[in-house]
Parts: sequence; C-alpha cells; structure tokens
Amino acid sequence: MRLHESVTSTKDESSALPAALPRHVAIIMDGNGRWAKRRGLGRSDGHRAGAESVRAIVRMARRAGIGTLTLYAFSEQNWSRPATEVQGLFSLLVDFLASERDELRRHEIRLVAIGHTDKLPLPARLALRKVVDDTRAHTAMTLALCLSYGGREDLVQAARSLAEQVRAGTLDPATIDESTLARSLWTARLGGDPDLVIRTSGEQRLSNFLLWESAYAELVFSDVDWPDFREAEFLAALQAFAGRQRRFGAVAA
Ligand code: IPE
Ligand code: IPE
Ligand code: MG
Repeated sequence: MRLHESVTSTKDESSALPAALPRHVAIIMDGNGRWAKRRGLGRSDGHRAGAESVRAIVRMARRAGIGTLTLYAFSEQNWSRPATEVQGLFSLLVDFLASERDELRRHEIRLVAIGHTDKLPLPARLALRKVVDDTRAHTAMTLALCLSYGGREDLVQAARSLAEQVRAGTLDPATIDESTLARSLWTARLGGDPDLVIRTSGEQRLSNFLLWESAYAELVFSDVDWPDFREAEFLAALQAFAGRQRRFGAVAA
C-alpha cells in the first residue's frame, strides 16, 4: 500500500492518539535479521519486510502530525557487515526512493539524508539526490534517513569544521557555545532535538545514534522486531511518551 491510499486517519486511530505528541521522533530500526532467522528466512528478507514497516510508520507519522521522523537506516559501523548484505540494503533504499517519490511529493514530506552519504554506492547517491531535491521545499513533515551515520562521526566532523573556521580567523573560540556546535552537526537540518527515541527488537542501547541530540530525549524500547513494528506498536510508543514527565533538570511544576 502506498502513502496516498490511507493518509486520512481513521476515526479510531485519531481518537487513540494522545494529546501530548512528540514533535520529533527518532527510531533505531533494529531486529530485521533476527526476525528473518526465526522464520527460516535470509537476512535480506528481514530487511525487505523492514522496508514495509518504514512505509507504514512514515504514513502514520504524517497522519499524526509529527514534525520530524528520523530513521536510523545504516550506521557507519554497519559497513563491517558482509558486502552482499550491504549491497542489498542500498538496493532496497533505491527501490524505496523510487516507489515513495510521488507519495512524498503528494504529502509534502521533505526528505533529508544525514551522515557520510558520499560513501554510499553511486545509484543510492543519485536516487537520494533526486528525491532530496524534489522535496526540498516541503513543510508538512521532515523525513530524515541516517545513512552511513554515527553520532561520534558527526561530532568529529563538527569539531573539524569549527577548528577550520578558527584557523581561517572567522570564529573566535571564546564564542563557541552549545548552539554553535549544534549548528555544525549534520542534524542541524532537522529543526530540533528528538523528543522521543524508540529502539525496536528488545536491545537497550544507542549504538552511536544521535549522541548529542538525545541528551533529553525520552527513550522507549519495544521488544518487537522492526518488521513487526507497525501502527499499533507506534501508537503504544506515542502513548508511553505521553505518560512521561519531562523535567530537563528542573523541579516538577
Ligand atoms: C536493523 O536490523 C537493520 C540495520 C541495522 C541495517 P539488523 O540487521 O541489525 O537485525 P538484527 O539486529 O541482526 O536482528
Ligand atoms: C543500529 O543497529 C544501527 C541501525 C539500526 C541502522 P545495529 O544492529 O547495527 O546495532 P548493534 O550492533 O546491535 O549495536
Ligand atoms: Mg541489529
């Protein structure tokens, strides 16, 4: 099913949505391999099923009115996987971009790619560039795909960029503060830190995801593998978020 077939929320779904929704949701989409193994399938089958969850969750986030959805699709460390798995993941990305291009346009979703995307295979880079250019002016939702991404790698490139500005004489080190650093990160394009970070598959770690940006994110861990993470599971995570009290270091009102 494509985005446009069901972008209007059902009465049931919208009435179940909590009032306090996160503006920015970030997801560590994990468990594709284990999902496949349990079914006697190959890891690539797990990734293909995972791509269907991406479609479902993007649709639902758009319907719910979430401002930014950031998806951890491929980490810098995932390059250490077998070459065939890596190739399969990027060919799935090309298929995803081709099949969703019209829907992203129709629903005014802006696509951004975060990470060392210059390392990606050429077909993936070209497909990404096309959809990113196509959707640049959209404002209904930002969909950020983290590709060849690592939180430490982002901090390293930001440090290098600031050091170069100091060397060029355009930046005074004494003026560097949190916002200077945040503006130098790849994630500066996302318009704010994640309010909610979800990880699927039962693992409870960040695996180098949004290390700086998650300082005050609410964390929700779901035991469900990513290929099984669909509308009901997303709704449960949004409800868990709504039940949290965020204090940001202050005393509760
Ligand atoms: C998530 O599923 C997809 C990527 C990290 C690219 P995994 O491939 O990590 O699945 P598991 O963790 O081996 O089950
Ligand atoms: C994190 O999952 C990366 C993505 C979801 C893209 P991994 O499966 O690579 O993480 P680890 O190895 O379990 O920490
Ligand atoms: Mg994994």
